[in-house]
Amino acid sequence: MTDAASPTTGGPRHVAVIMDGNGRWARARGRPRLFGHHAGAKRVREVVNACPDLGIKYLTIFAFSTENWKRTQTEVAGLMSLFRRYITKEARALRDEGVRVRFIGDRVRLDDKLIKLMDELEELTAGNDLVHLTIALNYGSRDEVARAIQRLAYEVAEGGLDPADVNEDTLTRFLDTHVLPDPDLVIRTSGEARISNFLLWQSAYAEYEFIDTLWPDFTRDVFAEVVAGYGKRDRRFGAVSG
Ligand code: IPE
Ligand code: IPE
Ligand code: MG
Repeated sequence: MTDAASPTTGGPRHVAVIMDGNGRWARARGRPRLFGHHAGAKRVREVVNACPDLGIKYLTIFAFSTENWKRTQTEVAGLMSLFRRYITKEARALRDEGVRVRFIGDRVRLDDKLIKLMDELEELTAGNDLVHLTIALNYGSRDEVARAIQRLAYEVAEGGLDPADVNEDTLTRFLDTHVLPDPDLVIRTSGEARISNFLLWQSAYAEYEFIDTLWPDFTRDVFAEVVAGYGKRDRRFGAVSG
């Protein structure tokens, strides 16, 4: 039995978070949406640093979706600039705190400067193992699966893979998340009860928590409370508990 399929009690090993509600948080204060995104970015380190005490080894956060390009040019440019500044400013602290950072999503639409910063941060933190932080940037689950299948198809065409050997594990190996375990718990803030194209394949058996708190108000204590709630759930993976 693999890790992901073993019924367990206790805490989640991999938590994924849809960080939603920055815009509403700003609007409630009469401020522009980007003000909310900046407040949201400030929460990330606090949440990452809470992970070891909560027994969480993997944290995956949704920062920008393949659908978020539909927002105004001002907001998109502001977010891209925030990502660049965030990486530049936080890189050393993340390294010193034992955080290994990875990015998932399609890089083709991102600007070269941002891609370079992402590569450098992955490299800088590659030796760390305390917390594995994965940042989903220009990520969409359907896009990820389509890209995975394209790579798989090329491998078949080149003779490196026999179509008869294609199964769940093969496909999983082509996903952006191939080095990560499946999420045990997916949290979405801001009261929306939808997935918005996040980790669809990987979350087949995840527990979901939809909470009303807006992302900039998501403190370490709120996080701990949601994680404690997870411990009370009975994960059966299709079997009978007992
Ligand atoms: C989530 O907050 C952050 C991103 C999608 C980048 P939103 O910007 O979606 O905030 P709301 O949902 O409009 O409040
Ligand atoms: C999901 O939030 C994407 C991120 C948190 C990055 P959205 O705010 O974009 O999702 P919808 O539009 O409400 O579904
Ligand atoms: Mg939103």
